[in-house]
Amino acid sequence: MRIKPVKQFNLALTPPPDKSITIRAAILGWLACGTTEIINPLFCGDTAAAFDAVAALGADVRFDKGAMTVVGGKIRGAEADARNSATVMRLLAGALSGSDATAIITGDASLSRRSMKCVIDVLTDMGAKIESKKGFAPLKIVGTTLHGIDFVPEVPSAQVKSAVLIAGLGAEGRTTVTERIKTRSHTEDMLGEFGADIKNENGVITISKSKLTGIKVNVPGDISSAAYPMALALKRGFCYLKNVGTSRRELIDFFVGIGGDIEEEDRGDRADLTVRRSDLKPFKISGAMSAALIDELPLLAALACVIEGESEIVDAEALRNKECDRIRCTVLNLRAMGADIEELKDGFRINGKGLKGGNARSYGDHRMAMSMAVANALSDGGGTVDDDRCVEISYPSFWELFV
Ligand code: S3P
Repeated sequence: MRIKPVKQFNLALTPPPDKSITIRAAILGWLACGTTEIINPLFCGDTAAAFDAVAALGADVRFDKGAMTVVGGKIRGAEADARNSATVMRLLAGALSGSDATAIITGDASLSRRSMKCVIDVLTDMGAKIESKKGFAPLKIVGTTLHGIDFVPEVPSAQVKSAVLIAGLGAEGRTTVTERIKTRSHTEDMLGEFGADIKNENGVITISKSKLTGIKVNVPGDISSAAYPMALALKRGFCYLKNVGTSRRELIDFFVGIGGDIEEEDRGDRADLTVRRSDLKPFKISGAMSAALIDELPLLAALACVIEGESEIVDAEALRNKECDRIRCTVLNLRAMGADIEELKDGFRINGKGLKGGNARSYGDHRMAMSMAVANALSDGGGTVDDDRCVEISYPSFWELFV
């Protein structure tokens, strides 16, 4: 895909629905008795993997007039393919560990190179029986009786937290997860809505054995996808974004904090955003903020290249175990576009001097492709991104931002 430098960006759009929420609605809908209706679901590679996997594992999944319905309450032993989605694989592992079924979860070549030890170890502590290839997929899960644990994650991860909480649903006794660094709260919030016996007191989440009941889930727009037009608007003009989910609102606060002009029309768990060209300041992202913005960091590294001054992103070692090594690959790409960027063990240091543009590689990673497309759009000369199809994993209509 060829990307021309964008001089003026003016767009009104509704960003794609939230991927994390759609995946959780599919999985919790499968575990719940009765019908879960998912309004405004995301249709993309990762959510297709979630719907197909739960269908293979016993749910009745239907598409009707723009909504998905999942009739759940039955877990069938089968082989399910999480494809490219670590969220699907890790959450399914949590759900299957305490079931009566034996199941195998496979993944595509990229997912099979990502370690699943983080979930295998903690679920094994709960009594789970999981066979793997030295911590890598495929995972064979022999459902058994689990017991609750008190889990304090070393590394912040919404996926691992979610696997433990979902396993805790069927475990004997109480399970607690105490997060030192907060991650997205969709699983605990949604488990409550599905009727689980769960409470969250200042970051200590406690769940006890519960039955779920199907509900209606209305999915807001995905802020991680909205991030791309927001970055373009902040540097090159204007955008109006409708229906953006604000339960992960740290990105909005971050942009405002570095000088971004963002107007927010609040609608409860979502908002309409007006984003205007702004004089952005260089920034430092660390600690809890790095965890909250984990999926946006390659984009923010690209943005830092076109903000004059030194910016730094640290405490983001988790980026090395995403769809690609997002630290190494971001550095290689941005350097090829003329950036002054240093690779740190857990992030980047950037001396913002502008970008000349160039040929970027996606490394098969949707967020790498989209972040580097924005980098080329904000560069002097533009350039290319080698694989335009990988955006289908989370944002199938992404290239429409550039027409
Ligand atoms: C996700 C959690 C994050 C994120 C991923 C989606 C989720 O991963 O990177 O894209 O839906 O729970 P970690 O939990 O491993 O940080």
